[in-house]
Amino acid sequence: MTTPTHLPITTDAAADKGASLAIVLLSRGAAYANGATELAELAQRLHTAVTAQGRSLLMVQPAFVDRSQPALPEALDLCAAAQTIVILPVMVPDEPSLRRWLHKLIMRWRASHVGIDDRPRLIFAQPLLQTPQLADVLALTVQEVLTRPDAQDVPGVVGDDDWEHDPKGWSMVPEHQHHVLWCMGPRCAAKGAVQLWPELAHTVRESPGLKKKVMLLQTSCQYPCNHGPLMIVYPGGQWYGPMDRSNIAPVLSQHVLHDQVNEDLRVHGPRTVVRI
Ligand code: FES
Repeated sequence: MTTPTHLPITTDAAADKGASLAIVLLSRGAAYANGATELAELAQRLHTAVTAQGRSLLMVQPAFVDRSQPALPEALDLCAAAQTIVILPVMVPDEPSLRRWLHKLIMRWRASHVGIDDRPRLIFAQPLLQTPQLADVLALTVQEVLTRPDAQDVPGVVGDDDWEHDPKGWSMVPEHQHHVLWCMGPRCAAKGAVQLWPELAHTVRESPGLKKKVMLLQTSCQYPCNHGPLMIVYPGGQWYGPMDRSNIAPVLSQHVLHDQVNEDLRVHGPRTVVRI
């Protein structure tokens, strides 16, 4: 979620919307910052390759279906000046149900731009795993690594090196009394869950009571997406949504510190908090 990795790769000379093309490079998000960096680097390489074909390219914009930002609608907004936008999914695994929903998301984005002149043409490209040439590329990679003189075996030595042992701390169960599950699935992400995660983390970090009692965990889709962004508090099993910047801190503090369930935002689960 670092800023530079989300900047679109633009070509100044192509910044007029003349015969312009924009590409949204669409990936699954990652829980670690390097995931966004890797996608940004791939976007840069793709930009070089497409312009080498002689095409006028406005930008290659990374986007994420979950866990990271920008989400697809934001990426489309950033590309809206182009005449044509190609959405290029590089998701592994490639889930047909997720792709169907992404189609709907794109249709909604288009519907929200009705009446705007020069709406871009939107093309959803073939998913990466269905690219016919992919097997050939992978075969070349295997051939290349097998013929490289410096290709090394993974060491098989068994001794008493540090890498052979995990730290003792990894055997200890922490004292947290509550697990707070925060959905970072595609639909919650499209509704702002990724941007709200730092707010949730800040709320817990800045409150000694919450910090001691709560462990935050990101999850994939929990299914009642229409109520997202979704927060689930265990052990009580109270589901809350839709969460936003203004209700995260009061709902969580009421629940964890004062045993009160916010009835307005309770989607599912008991009306009262039972202490364990
Ligand atoms: S994406 Fe969050 S509940 Fe489905």
